[in-house]
Amino acid sequence: MTSLEGIRCIDELDLAAKRVFIRVDFNVPLDKSGAITDEERITAVMPTLEHAVKAGARVVLASHLGRPKGTVDPRYSLEPVGARLAERTGWEVLLPDDCVGDAARSVIQDLRSGQVCLLENLRFHPEEEKNDPEFARELAALVDAYVDDAFGAAHRAHASVDALPRLVRERAMGFLLRSEVTALNRLLERPERPFVAVLGGAKVADKIGVIESLLQRCDAICIGGAMANTLLAARGTSMGSSRVETDWLARGRTLLEQAERRGVAIVLPSDVVVAPSLESTAGETVPVGAVPSDAMALDVGPATVAAFAARVTSAKTVFWNGPMGLFESPAFAAGTVGVARALAASSGYTVVGGGDSAAAIHAAGSDLAARMSFISTGGGAALELLEGRKLPGIEALRAAARPL
Ligand code: 3PG
Repeated sequence: MTSLEGIRCIDELDLAAKRVFIRVDFNVPLDKSGAITDEERITAVMPTLEHAVKAGARVVLASHLGRPKGTVDPRYSLEPVGARLAERTGWEVLLPDDCVGDAARSVIQDLRSGQVCLLENLRFHPEEEKNDPEFARELAALVDAYVDDAFGAAHRAHASVDALPRLVRERAMGFLLRSEVTALNRLLERPERPFVAVLGGAKVADKIGVIESLLQRCDAICIGGAMANTLLAARGTSMGSSRVETDWLARGRTLLEQAERRGVAIVLPSDVVVAPSLESTAGETVPVGAVPSDAMALDVGPATVAAFAARVTSAKTVFWNGPMGLFESPAFAAGTVGVARALAASSGYTVVGGGDSAAAIHAAGSDLAARMSFISTGGGAALELLEGRKLPGIEALRAAARPL
């Protein structure tokens, strides 16, 4: 379990007139025109930002956006995010065109209490992902205090997440980071039983760590998405031209045996929606034993949704991560939406691990999202926490501060 012991929260710091670096995760999806298509990550961090502004801090926001690989690429500029933040709040959000150097220094120097600036994408500098100590020192020299509210990036040992907080004595977690860790820890620490996980997504390889951790805690794990193809194939089912990770078949078999030994039910699809290709716009439902050799499974079928929903309905704790199929295409979204509805109808404690499943819930309607107990803003970070791994962003907040 990830402990928050020894880590202060933002409301324990005296922020008045201090220059406060707040690491946020504004890695939001943008469409081709640069418009934000889902602003949940902005919404989620607002309590921390509002607190800092009200407390009279000079607020210095910093984030990454996308993976620009250490070069300045205007497609990954944080400008649209700054504009949206200003629009939502009425704050003037200053946007220096770099996160270090003269531009950033002069904007930060001139900030008044309660004013906000958003530094340009940290990943425009290769030093960010290299956790470079000199780059961290440059950032640290700009501010008096550090707050981490970027749960989605807490699993990255990058300069703004790891090296930087170790150089700032006055530091704390934000409200989002605290609520993310608290919600996810509840799944690890004596979850109310039955505890059911629903996992989807493309690859067994990406989820193997979390499956192994959940095998020790869950009563049942329902698996859909392309990763189910690999496990069905490992059981000897022919999956036609579906995506199957052939190098994971042996590990898949071991996993199924492990589950059986532990008495954990692994619920795999009994029917799937198949189509000739990923570009298809319509599919046909077939039982898993009858996938034609030239067709691929692109969603789970209605009988599978009903079976997963029955598990979810009888559970007291539910964790869901990963779509059940190619949900971006309306022809193959029913499985994912069906699972989202089952969680929404559950009276248990329901947690959705970020990434695609969170996006699917938001896309399926705000009424569904409001009925989940907790939707994480961190995909990779949530999975690593549930695997029981230490998150660099949290460990750095607890470590002894070093002099600049
Ligand atoms: C995410 O979207 O999961 C986080 O912002 C981390 O992004 P990354 O996977 O590019 O490090």
